[in-house]
Amino acid sequence: MSINTLPSTVRALLQADPTSKTITLVERPLPIPNFDKGEHLIRVYAAAPCAGERLWPSFGDIPGKEIITCDDVAGVVVSTPEGSPFKVRDEVYARTSYYRPGCARDYAIVTTDELAGRPCNLSWAESSAVPLAAETAWQALFKHAGVGNFDSPNWKGKRILVTGASGGGWDLGRPDCKSNGGGSGAKQVLNYHSIKIAEWGQNPLNKVDVIVDCVGGQSLEDAWWCLRDNSVIISINQPPEDRRPVRCEVSDVRAIFFIMDPSGADLAEITKLVEKGKCRPIVDSVWPLEQFQNAYERLDSGRVRGKIIFDLLLNTQK
Ligand SMILES: NC(=O)c1ccc[n+]([C@@H]2O[C@H](COP(=O)([O-])OP(=O)(O)OC[C@H]3O[C@@H](n4cnc5c(N)ncnc54)[C@H](OP(=O)(O)O)[C@@H]3O)[C@@H](O)[C@H]2O)c1
Repeated sequence: MSINTLPSTVRALLQADPTSKTITLVERPLPIPNFDKGEHLIRVYAAAPCAGERLWPSFGDIPGKEIITCDDVAGVVVSTPEGSPFKVRDEVYARTSYYRPGCARDYAIVTTDELAGRPCNLSWAESSAVPLAAETAWQALFKHAGVGNFDSPNWKGKRILVTGASGGGWDLGRPDCKSNGGGSGAKQVLNYHSIKIAEWGQNPLNKVDVIVDCVGGQSLEDAWWCLRDNSVIISINQPPEDRRPVRCEVSDVRAIFFIMDPSGADLAEITKLVEKGKCRPIVDSVWPLEQFQNAYERLDSGRVRGKIIFDLLLNTQK
C-alpha cells in the first residue's frame, strides 16, 4: 500500500452535535498522522462502538474535537513514525483515546502506546471487539482489584462477581473464559431475570471478594449485599459509594470507579491470552458502515450479546 495511492477522502460516521446521539455518514479528508506525536495511519478493516460513547461528548470535556465514533479498531498499518515498533502492513488493533476523533472511518490515527499486534486466531470483526472490553476487564482485575495478576498467590480462593458480564463483547460469564493459573474462570452464571442478586448475596456461602459492576444503578446497589468484609467493589459506571444501601453493614470495603486507560502494553498481554485460547470476544452482529442506523438501534436496545461491529470492507474494495 503506497501512501501516494491513498484516497483524498474517507467515509466517516460523525456525531455532529455533542448533545444529540444522531449520527450521519459523511466524507472527510484523509487523516494525516502527526509523527512527532507517535501517530500511525491505519487502514481500518473493522471498528466497534461502545454502548455509552455518544453521551460522553455532552459532558463538554473535548471542545473542538470532531466527533467521529468508535474508538476500537482493527486494521493494517499504512505509515509509521520513525522508530516505531510497528511497520507498514502490520496487522494491529487498539483502543484509541476518546480525546481524538474515533475510528469509524476508512483510515484512522493510532498512537504507538495504543497499538498491539492483533491475535492471529481472530477475524477482523472479532479483533475489533477486543480492545475496550478486554482492557477494561484487565485493568479492573489486575490493576484496581489489588490482587495482582492471575499468577499471584493473592488470587487463591478469591470469589469474583461480574454484573452485566453478557454485554460489551467480553463474555466473562462464559465457562470457557479461563485465565492462566489459579483455576479462575466463571464457575457459575447467574441470570438476573430470575435471581434477585440482593437476596442471593445475603447467603454467607455466596459472599464474594471482588465485584466488577458493568451495569450501575439498582444492579450496583443490589450487588453490595454480595460483599464480604475486606472486599473490593469496582464499577465502570458510577462511584459505588453513591449506590451503597444504607442498611448494608459490610466493613472495610474498597469502592472504586475507574475509566479504562487505552494501553497497547495491556493489549499485547491480552493478545497472548486470546492466542492461547484462554478467552475470546463475542460479536453480536457485523454491519457495513452504510447501515449505521440499524447498528446503533441495536446497540441502544441494551439487548446486545457481545459487540456491535462495523466491517469497513463490506460494500467496498479491499
Ligand atoms: N469506565 C469504563 O472504562 C468503561 C469501559 C467500558 C464500558 N463502560 C460502560 O459500561 C456500560 C456497559 O457496557 P457494555 O458494553 O457491557 O453494555 P451493553 O453491551 O449494552 O450491555 C448489555 C448487556 O447487559 C445485560 N444487562 C442489562 N441489565 C442487567 C442487569 N441489571 N444485570 C445483569 N445484566 C444486565 C443485558 O442482558 P439482557 O439482554 O438479558 O438484559 C445485556 O447482555 C456502558 O454504560 C459503558 O459505557 C465503561
